[in-house]
Amino acid sequence: MVNKRGNFGSKLGAVLASAGSAVGLGNVWRFPTEVGNNGGAAFIFVYLICIAVIGIPVMMSEFLIGRHTHTNTISAFAKLAPGKWWRIEGIAGVFVAFLILSYYIVISGWTLFYLIESLCGQLQGLQTTDLCALSARLGAKASDNGAQAADYTQVFNDFVSNPWLPVLMGAAFMGLTHLIIARGVQSGIEKSSKVMMPMLLFIIGILVVCSFGMPGSSEGLRFLLKPDFSKITADVILSAVGQAFFSLSLAMGCLCTYASYFRSDTKLPKTAAGVAIIDTFVAILSGFIIFPAVFSVEEVSVDAGPGLVFITLPNVFNIAFSHLPWLGYIFSGFFYLLLLLAALTSAISLHESVTAYVLEAFSVSRRKAAAAVSIACMTLGVACSLSFGVWSDLTLFGMNIFELFDFTASKIILPIGGIIICLFTGWYLDRKLVESELTNGGTLRFRLFRLYYFIIRYVAPLAIAAVFVQELLS
Ligand code: PHE
Repeated sequence: MVNKRGNFGSKLGAVLASAGSAVGLGNVWRFPTEVGNNGGAAFIFVYLICIAVIGIPVMMSEFLIGRHTHTNTISAFAKLAPGKWWRIEGIAGVFVAFLILSYYIVISGWTLFYLIESLCGQLQGLQTTDLCALSARLGAKASDNGAQAADYTQVFNDFVSNPWLPVLMGAAFMGLTHLIIARGVQSGIEKSSKVMMPMLLFIIGILVVCSFGMPGSSEGLRFLLKPDFSKITADVILSAVGQAFFSLSLAMGCLCTYASYFRSDTKLPKTAAGVAIIDTFVAILSGFIIFPAVFSVEEVSVDAGPGLVFITLPNVFNIAFSHLPWLGYIFSGFFYLLLLLAALTSAISLHESVTAYVLEAFSVSRRKAAAAVSIACMTLGVACSLSFGVWSDLTLFGMNIFELFDFTASKIILPIGGIIICLFTGWYLDRKLVESELTNGGTLRFRLFRLYYFIIRYVAPLAIAAVFVQELLS
């Protein structure tokens, strides 16, 4: 069954690679932030409904487009709708993957830095040790002031505004991503996912146990488990839809590209459900790691926003484990390793979405295509990184380069892309083709097909349109 563009060797490999794409910074960093900002358990409740009702059907649509055409996202749309404007969606998908990768590596680079810092013991009281002289020299300016220097905001700001250190970290992360992509679909993407995803789940398990053991953690559990339905507002619902899209990597060509490597006997509805379950499981467990820990420390608040992971958490590690610094050391080390693994498997899928196109459109070798994408992305990445420091004054519509990329990608291209994918599958594609692809040519039973079709034609596009309009107005 192996064609010359390469396939995933096994169904498990297909599920793990796709789950790797889905599980990313969005689960460990963005999801807890959203839960914190939107009232805890009530948000989770709405989020679960969004995943089941909108997320899984849209993912199935991306899968069927990719698997049916066995080509990169741009060619996939061109093949299914020759000469029609639908192919704009393919172009937008690859373009947005490129754009997202260029700023995803910046945050991933920060994660790498925090991992090094925590392994060096820098985050536990910010003490400089001999072992860590290098890391200390690199970034943590506040480190020699001892206890009163436990100002993680300052450390964070010093680090991100440093002109070269974050760039270096981002480049190291890009290098890792590049190496995996250059090895190809089976021995690069599939093999690394099969190692990294179980590792990630294992680390999550350890962290959940550690976090539950903290004094005062029960308050965090209550926040996550006891919904206060009066907190559900239109805004909460729309945030949940947006989070579901981002977290499942929908509308960026990633899952479509991965599905083009699926074998013909891979069951699309089952795979989509599997990926969504793993993704949701990781997101919720991340909440179980972070909130009991955060609630066990009175000084910090749950709605700290994007700084939650890089400013609030080191604070939590430091205060909560002040009597057991070695436990804090393990907890923070594992936490940033978890974040790094999650970021890496997602970055791989973004990279592959673009590389697959370059490789097939220009008929170059995989190595060359990957190198071109890595270099181009890194160049943009440098600009994104510098926008936190020396280029912070460079703004357009009040946004710096990083914010502009994020805004364009996640608030404009993604929602429109999501709507187009629904309309394409629900209204343009032949219903028989859709049904045949989802049932592997009629050999599988898919009882919910009619429900799926109804959602993809009406419910999903309208829901996404509502988010889009709301986001633009906010
Ligand atoms: N789904 C990923 C996450 O949760 C983000 C991502 C977006 C991954 C786009 C790939 C493509 O972080």
